[in-house]
Amino acid sequence: MTGSIPPSAPWLFTCRHTYELTLLAEMRLLQLPVQRSDVLAPGLVHVDLPRDFPLLTANPAYALQVLPNAVEVFAPSIRALAEPIADALRAQLDGHTGTWDVHALVPGQFKGNPKPPMRRRADLILDAVLDRLKTTARWALKRRITGGRDVAVLAQFVLFDEGHVWFSIAPVQQLAAGGTWPATLPAGLAEVADDDVAPASSYRKLVEAFACLNAAPAEGDVCVDLGACPGGWTRVLLQHGAHVTAVDRAPLAPHLMADPRVTFLPSDAFAYRPEQPVAWLVSDIIAFPERVGELLVQWLPDRRCERFVVQIKFKGEPDWPAVQAAQSVATRAGYHLITRHFFNDKNELTLMGRQGD
Ligand SMILES: C[S@@+](CC[C@H](N)C(=O)[O-])C[C@H]1O[C@@H](n2cnc3c(N)ncnc32)[C@H](O)[C@@H]1O
Repeated sequence: MTGSIPPSAPWLFTCRHTYELTLLAEMRLLQLPVQRSDVLAPGLVHVDLPRDFPLLTANPAYALQVLPNAVEVFAPSIRALAEPIADALRAQLDGHTGTWDVHALVPGQFKGNPKPPMRRRADLILDAVLDRLKTTARWALKRRITGGRDVAVLAQFVLFDEGHVWFSIAPVQQLAAGGTWPATLPAGLAEVADDDVAPASSYRKLVEAFACLNAAPAEGDVCVDLGACPGGWTRVLLQHGAHVTAVDRAPLAPHLMADPRVTFLPSDAFAYRPEQPVAWLVSDIIAFPERVGELLVQWLPDRRCERFVVQIKFKGEPDWPAVQAAQSVATRAGYHLITRHFFNDKNELTLMGRQGD
């Protein structure tokens, strides 16, 4: 008789570099059955978890991406590194009629390096994986798509050093709040274009949130931006064609104040309520973390927004009781929820929700 403890497997998680230990601490808090853990590189954490552990349970806020049930390959050549990945992918796709994608990752990209070392070698390995599939599973190649919610199977590999890769192949889970897990963005990182006109770099966080959700305001949607000054988030909402009620004690940048689609209210953001339910509530208010739960209580039980993107900011360690209080307001009000620490987030988390039926 074998025991009932399932065998463990290596799982890799990516995160914003410098938050590796925060991610591991969160896994302990979530009581994930981690048997071994180490930080492989900045922004790359390895833990042993039970093989085939439920993906949706292994979804900590501080993780940007997950590579479940990873396999390590050591080989001297590009071709020899590619073969086991291609063969495992072919076996996984055999009999599967859905779409799939493959991401070639290198550690430098977890630090946001646009030209990371080994990028070219990783791309050559990817080419070799696709070449091998051309001969062993040509039927599968037509079903490869890049990004979006429709990717059903995701292969990922990290070229850890010249002759060493980790790879993972997993079914992609749809999240009820939006987006998927694993993320279908490589390493969970959204491409955020530079915007010289944006009045603050904080616009990057909202761009990441919309990319993670695979959703954004539609043309003409009414959005409320709390703590909106100087207007980085308002500008992103406008770029999606939204009409924005921006609430802050201080005014926005002049070009946003002059935009006819912006209604600026110079008042306390915690006291504002819309007359009619709105499509999106976004909030980047700097306030004590427990105030986020208080804010959501004013909005969610009465379903004043269809979706929300709300930041919770910390001084020092994450304030988990405040996070859990805010999360439970959302779930009790019937919202589906994801919490993430984005690459552009500082000492804060982004709570994102969507009304359930
Ligand atoms: C981090 S900034 C927001 C940046 C903004 N999201 C952007 O992209 O430009 C935080 C804002 O919250 C505002 N704030 C803090 N407490 C507030 C309150 N009670 N009512 C209104 N605004 C508040 C501050 O005035 C500040 O402009």
